[in-house]
Order: sequence, then C-alpha cells, then structure tokens
Amino acid sequence: MEFRKLGKTGWEIGAVGLGAMPLSLKDERPDEKDAIAVIHAAVDAGVNLIDTADAYCRDDSETGHNERLIGKALAELSGETREKIVVATKGGHIRPEGRWETDGRPEHLREACEASLKNLGLETIPLYQFHRPDPEVPQADSLGELKKLKDEGKILQVGISNVSMDEIENAEKVVDIVSVQNQFSPAHRNPETDGTFAISLARNIAFLAWSPLNGMDNARKLGENSPEVREIAANHGVSPQTLALAWLLSKGPNIIPIPGASRKESICDSVKAADVKLSLEEIVRLDTCWKQ
Ligand SMILES: NC(=O)c1ccc[n+]([C@@H]2O[C@H](COP(=O)([O-])OP(=O)(O)OC[C@H]3O[C@@H](n4cnc5c(N)ncnc54)[C@H](OP(=O)(O)O)[C@@H]3O)[C@@H](O)[C@H]2O)c1
Repeated sequence: MEFRKLGKTGWEIGAVGLGAMPLSLKDERPDEKDAIAVIHAAVDAGVNLIDTADAYCRDDSETGHNERLIGKALAELSGETREKIVVATKGGHIRPEGRWETDGRPEHLREACEASLKNLGLETIPLYQFHRPDPEVPQADSLGELKKLKDEGKILQVGISNVSMDEIENAEKVVDIVSVQNQFSPAHRNPETDGTFAISLARNIAFLAWSPLNGMDNARKLGENSPEVREIAANHGVSPQTLALAWLLSKGPNIIPIPGASRKESICDSVKAADVKLSLEEIVRLDTCWKQ
C-alpha cells in the first residue's frame, strides 16, 4: 500500500487507515474473536493506522470496549509488527445511557487517557485526539491538559476532531497539532469549502477523513444511484466504495481516510484505494456526480 506521512511527525502511514468504531457500535457487531480477526486482516493488508475512541461502546457501562478489542488484537501480534502500528484514540466524549455527550474538563481527559492506556495495553498512546470541543470548557483548557499528558510521555502526539478552521488555528497556540479528524465523504463535502482542509494542508497537518463512505448505515448504498460512479469504478475494476476512498486520497497528500469495518472483506476491499490512480478528468467528473 502507498504510504503517506502523518503530518509533521514523519511517521509512515498506510494511505488507508482502519476506523474500528463499527466493531463496537454496529447493531450486529462481531463477537470478540471475529472483531480481532478484522483488525488482524487490516494489519495483514498493510494498514498501520487504527482509529478508535474510549466512547466507541454501546453506553458508559462498557466505556473502552473498542480500545480493549484493539489492545487484545495488538497483544497477539509480533513485537516487530506491533511497533509499526499507530493507534489513534480519542477522549472527550461520554456515553450516559448511550447518549453522546461531551466532557472536555482537564480532569476528565486525564482520567480518560489513563484508562485508554490500560485498555490498549500501551505505555504511550501514539496519537491522542480531543474528540469534540466541549461548549462548557475553553478549548485551551482541554488542550492544555493534553499538552501536559504529552510532556509526561503518556501520549506522543496530539490531534483534534470535529473542529472549525478557527479552532485549528487556536489549538496550535496551545500544543503542536499533528492531525485533524473531520467528516469528509462524497455526501459530506464541507472540508472542501470551510477552510479546515486548506489550513491542514498548509500547516502540514494530517487530515483523517471520518465516515469517508457516508457512514455505517449508508456505505453499502454508495454510488448505487449514479451510473457514472459505477462506470468509473468498473473501469478501474474496483467497488464504488474503493473509488470513493481513491477520490478522497486525490484531494491532497495529507489526507488519510479511515473507513470503518466490522467485516474483513470491507477493509480488504478499502485498502485497494491506495493503488487506484485517478485521472484529472475522472476526479473532476466525480467531484460533480457523487450521489448516495
Ligand atoms: N471523530 C469523530 O467524531 C468520528 C465520527 C464517526 C466516525 N469516526 C471514525 O471514522 C471511522 C469511519 O466512519 P464510520 O465507520 O462511521 O463510517 P464509514 O467508514 O463511512 O462506513 C463504515 C461502513 O462501511 C462499510 N464498508 C467499509 N469498507 C467497505 C467497502 N470497501 N465496501 C463496502 N462496504 C464497506 C463497513 O461495513 P461492514 O461493517 O459490513 O464491514 C462499515 O460498517 C469510524 O470507524 C471511526 O473510527 C470518527
């Protein structure tokens, strides 16, 4: 698989990452053994960025569910393979009774980070992302705590998620930011116009595109209603989903889509996107014809 740099870290990352969320959040989520097999299939296919969060669980009775699956999957790999994997987790969301709420208080983020270290079985988290700005807490306070955790060696690098252009600019005044994780897909094109992608590219910040296939519930339908999408995909011998990821990759050298998967077949198909080279004409056609 083609490698890309994770922003200014210089880390070599497979151009397609794995979004581990469906392993915990899909209604019919796989059992533990099958979930671990999906993570191993991704690694075997060349994936070395695994995105997770403490909040990827059904509710707060199982906070860290997704991280524990990854911790178990990593423990079964050889040391040499494990060392190449960048686990990107997040803190700042809580799941009372399954709801999504924010908690960006410094004391919560410290507690959450320490729990994530245990869940993942790591001494240092390679990439820790602030999941979502908390309207009740100044961003500088939340990120200030992540800077402390970085200085203490509990995390290596800091990323932010669900942020505006101004929030990216302000975050950089508090701590070095190596990644921005925002929604970007054929159905959700805001980063092309809201300045978040442009500023990330200009500042050498990796852009991790979340729900790049239009989300867990829509991914299967992608391209269904567009003969043009199906035609371009067929010309390259790939699925519309792989084509969508290749189109995202064409947007810039700093973009790394993190498609979710709860089945091995999905991630093994998705990684093929890194080898699809789209012509300028195809990129322009896709820019105008994406439909769900
Ligand atoms: N930062 C945030 O706030 C935030 C929010 C949402 C998501 N995320 C991250 O982004 C990741 C991806 O988002 P997502 O999982 O919501 O949505 P997504 O990647 O758009 O779609 C995921 C679904 O796509 C299916 N799929 C994947 N590759 C496929 C292929 N090649 N062909 C057909 N179907 C395919 C999978 O089906 P199967 O399940 O059947 O394998 C999976 O359930 C998440 O896992 C999570 O890590 C972050």
